[in-house]
Parts: sequence; structure tokens; C-alpha cells
Amino acid sequence: MFEEAERLKKERGEDAVLDLSLGNPIEEPPVAFLDSLKAASVESLPGTHRYMNNAGYPETRAKVAELVSREQGVPLTEANILMSCGAAGGLNVVLKSLLDPGDEVIIFAPFFAEYIFYADNHNGVAKIVESDENFQPDADRLEEAVTEKTKAVIINNPNNPTGVVYPPTAIRQLADILSQKALRFGHPIYLISDEVYRHIVYDDVALPSVLREYADSIIVTSCSKDLGLAGERIGYIAISPNLEGAGELFAACTTTTRTLGFVNAPAMMQRSIRACLDARVDLGLYRRNREVLCDALVQAGFRVVKPSGAFYIFPQSPEPDDVAYCSLLREKGVIVVPGSGFGRGGHIRLSYSVEHQTAVKAAAILAELR
Ligand SMILES: Cc1ncc(COP(=O)(O)O)c(C=O)c1O
Repeated sequence: MFEEAERLKKERGEDAVLDLSLGNPIEEPPVAFLDSLKAASVESLPGTHRYMNNAGYPETRAKVAELVSREQGVPLTEANILMSCGAAGGLNVVLKSLLDPGDEVIIFAPFFAEYIFYADNHNGVAKIVESDENFQPDADRLEEAVTEKTKAVIINNPNNPTGVVYPPTAIRQLADILSQKALRFGHPIYLISDEVYRHIVYDDVALPSVLREYADSIIVTSCSKDLGLAGERIGYIAISPNLEGAGELFAACTTTTRTLGFVNAPAMMQRSIRACLDARVDLGLYRRNREVLCDALVQAGFRVVKPSGAFYIFPQSPEPDDVAYCSLLREKGVIVVPGSGFGRGGHIRLSYSVEHQTAVKAAAILAELR
């Protein structure tokens, strides 16, 4: 999509292309981060730029542990935290550590498409389970899908591509099913919660604590979206202290961080974020864009589940062929992604991580082409 948008911009001119295809955070990092980065850049203690423990600097992991303990209501220490090269790196490290060949990894559709490749990277098999019509996990379908080969379930909350937030009740229900199945099959089934959009929420919604609800859970997240640092590749893995074999999994993730070739998360970023883990990008623009687009789509008669988080909307496509509808939009200069790329055809994904005028103009064209 990135290349296609660039090609169209060259062909038609920047202003003629309204690109709502990318999950690239448009908000700049907060001042607290920039100050911290400046301070980190002049540190000159011996060893500042050397290799470190593959899990990351203990000081940074301790700060992250404080943050996650507060958010999850479960006490963690640096022994539960590994720094990663973004959430993408973290997810690969966790899957490499957990999966044996042929293990199944359950993913709810619509999904972040990379999950399928990440499972495949480590000889796992992605098993797709449809979420319900409001894009919430479907408990009955999950129950049917879990087999003795199920090693893990990945959830993404708030969700890309739908923007919905799974409430605590939904996580409790998942946790009950997974606990029963784990007991029946005689091995743990891990819940991997990708929380890269955790701090990008708009309504007064309660975010669940997976660590409190389910012992065998792992959070993978990053500073890509909430600190606007997607290009800096910094994130972390939080392993539940109550997970069976938490210490072994920590050791495995330390090793796979090395063997997958990451070696460690970027040192400068680890030193920079530890003083500003509570800072956030400004959500004002995302909030305004969400309102403009949702209002226009609803008024024009699109079926929309209003998103409470992330910066995506996933409306039904007016044409059942979502790829054809995206081509039609592209002819009018609006670039969005077909839902079939996320495992749910007949829908389109709009990213509203764009300038406000782009959202306003795109809203008008979408309403026209309903
Ligand atoms: C749901 C989801 N998970 C993971 C990632 C990857 O995040 P990172 O840039 O931190 O690797 C993204 C990026 O868009 C995402 O949307």
C-alpha cells in the first residue's frame, strides 16, 4: 500500500491523493521523550554503547515493570520484562520461544495480517477464528477451535483493523475457556495480548488486565504508537509472574532475542524511554478524525462499529467485492485497504492517522461513493 500510495502521489500530485491506508502514527513524540533522548545522547559512561544483557538494561526493565504493575494490578519485577525491537520483534521472540513444529496459534478474524507470518516463521500454524458481528471474540467458536495442538491464542486489544476494545468480561470469558481446555489437554495454553494501542483510547472504556484474568498470559507491546516511535523499534514483553514456567520462558525469550538476530533492543531508546514511560502523544487529532469519518460514514448509510481505540475504522464495503470497491475509491484518490487483507472480506479499513483535512476530504468522497 505504501508503494502504491507513493506511485499515485507521483502520478497525480501530493494533494490529489488521500492516503488512509497506513498505520503510521502521525502524531510527533511528546516533548518529555525528546528531552529524555537529548539527555541520553550525551551520556558518556564507559560501556554506554556496548552489548548488554539480551533482555535489556535492568534499569529500563525495572521502570517498565513499575508501569505494567500499575496498569495490570499485578506486581511485576524486571525479571518479568524483556525489552524488544518493537512489538513485531517481541511477538516473534515469544512465538519462537513457545512453539514446537505444528503447534496451533489461534487468531481472531479480522486480524493484523502479520500474525499469520509470525506463526509461520516459527513452524506454527495460524488457526483463524471469526469474531462476532461487533468484532468481539466469539466464545463458542473459540471453544470449538481449541485442540490439543493449541499452544497459544493471540489477541489484539484495542484492535487493528477494527478499533474495537475488548472489555474485561470478554477476557474473563476467554480465560475461562482456555483454563478448562488447558486442564483437559494437560498443557498450558498461552494468551498473548498485543497491546500496542493500549493508550490510544477515546471513550470512557475499561481496559482489561490480562495478567490478572489469566495466569498463563504474556503482554507484548511497544512505544510505536503511544510515544510515536514506530521507526525507533522499541517495545517490550511482559511475562505474567504467575505463568507456569515464567522463569524458563524468560530465559527462552532472552536466548531467542539473540538467536533471531535482534541481540538486544536499541540501547539509546532503552535509555531514552525509561524516564518518560508515562508520556503520550496528543490524541486530539485522532479523536477529531474519528468523529468526522464516523459521522460521515453513518450518515451515508455505511454499517460501522464505532471504534473506541487505535486509529482505524472498519466499515462494511457498499460492494461485497471489497477489492473492487477499494479500486473505485483509488480512482477518486482515496487509498484504503480491502478487508480481505485482514481476513474479513466485504469490509474496508480506514486509518485516520492522517492530517485533519485529509480525513475531511476523504469522508466526503466516501459518502459520495456509498
Ligand atoms: C496490531 C499490531 N501489532 C503489532 C504491530 C507492530 O508494532 P511495532 O511497530 O511496535 O513492531 C502493529 C503495527 O502496526 C500493529 O498494528
